[in-house]
Amino acid sequence: MRPALFIIAVTLSGLLTGCGEPPPPPPPPQPVAFSHKVHAGVNQIGCGTCHAYAAHGPIAGIPSAARCVGCHKFVDKDRPEIQKVNQAFEDGKPLVWNRVYRVPDHVYFTHERHIAAGLQCQQCHGAVEEADVLKRESPLTMGWCLNCHHARSAPTDCLTCHK
Ligand code: HEC
Ligand code: HEC
Ligand code: HEC
Ligand code: HEC
Ligand code: HEC
Repeated sequence: MRPALFIIAVTLSGLLTGCGEPPPPPPPPQPVAFSHKVHAGVNQIGCGTCHAYAAHGPIAGIPSAARCVGCHKFVDKDRPEIQKVNQAFEDGKPLVWNRVYRVPDHVYFTHERHIAAGLQCQQCHGAVEEADVLKRESPLTMGWCLNCHHARSAPTDCLTCHK
C-alpha cells in the first residue's frame, strides 16, 4: 500500500471504530441553573415549546430570555435564579448558554431530516427529561454517524456530511 493510502486507511479505521476516543467532556457552566428534568420531565413541557426549529431546519434553536419570561413573569418570579432571567430580559441582555453538542465546522448536520425520518431526540441526546444538568450523551464521531446511517439505509457518501 502506498504511504498516503495507508495513512488514509488508518485514519478512517480510527474514525470508524472510535478507538482512542476521549471521554465526553464534563457539562459546561451555564448562566442560569436551568433544569430539563423540572421543565420537560416533571412539568411535561414539550421539547418543541423551546426548541421550535428542530423539525424545520438544521438547528433546533435555544429559547431566548423572552420565551422564559413568558412563563416566569408569573411562575417562581421571586426565586433568585428566575430573577436573573427576568433581569437579563429587562436589560435587553441575552442569556449566553454554552453548547453541549457541537460538530466541527467541516461537518454538515441537520435536524430536519432526522426528525422527518422518525428519530426521537433521545436517540442522540439521551434521557434529557431526566437530567437537571445536560452532558453529552453521544460521541459525535464520524463512526457514530455512519453506524446509524448504515443501519437505517441513510446516505453514506462523503458529500452527505462534508460539503
Ligand atoms: C412553558 C412555561 C415555562 C417556560 C417557557 C420556562 N419555564 Fe422555567 N419553570 C416552569 C415551571 C412550571 C417551573 C416549576 C415551578 C415550580 O415547581 O415551582 C419552572 C422552574 C424553573 C426554574 C427553577 C426555579 C427554582 O429556583 O426552583 C428555573 C431556574 C427556570 N424555570 C428557568 C427557566 C429558563 C431559564 C427558561 C427559558 C430558557 C424557562 N425556565 C422557561 C415553566 C416554564
Ligand atoms: C422550557 C424550555 C425547554 C424545554 C421544554 C426543553 N429544553 Fe432543551 N434546552 C433549553 C435551554 C435553555 C437549553 C440550554 C441550557 C442547557 O444546555 O441546559 C437547552 C439545551 C438543550 C440541549 C443541548 C444543546 C446544546 O448543544 O447545548 C439539548 C440536546 C436539548 N436541550 C434537548 C431537549 C429535549 C430533547 C427536550 C424535550 C425532552 C428539551 N430539550 C426541552 C430549554 C428547553
Ligand atoms: C440524529 C441525531 C440527533 C437527533 C435525532 C436530534 N439531535 Fe439535536 N443535535 C444533534 C447533533 C449532532 C447536534 C450538534 C449539531 C451542530 O453542531 O451543528 C445537535 C444539537 C442540538 C441542539 C443545540 C444546537 C441547536 O441545534 O440549536 C439542540 C437544542 C438540540 N440538538 C435539540 C434536539 C431536539 C429537541 C431534538 C428532537 C426534536 C433533537 N435535538 C434531535 C443530533 C441529534
Ligand atoms: C440514530 C441514527 C442516526 C445518527 C446517529 C445520525 N444520523 Fe444522519 N440520518 C439518519 C437518517 C435515518 C436519515 C434520513 C435519511 C432519509 O431522509 O432518507 C439521516 C439523514 C442525514 C442527512 C441528510 C442526508 C441527505 O439525504 O442529504 C445528513 C446531512 C445527516 N444525516 C448527517 C448526519 C451527521 C453529520 C451525523 C453525526 C453527527 C448523523 N447524521 C447521525 C440517521 C442518523
Ligand atoms: C454521516 C456523516 C458522515 C459521512 C457520510 C462522512 N463523514 Fe467524515 N466526519 C463526520 C463527522 C461527524 C466528523 C467529525 C468527528 C470526528 O472527527 O470523528 C468527520 C470527520 C472527518 C475527517 C476529519 C478527521 C479529523 O481528525 O478531523 C475526515 C478526513 C473525514 N471525516 C473524511 C470522510 C470521508 C473520506 C468520507 C467518505 C468516505 C466521510 N468522511 C463521510 C461525518 C461524516
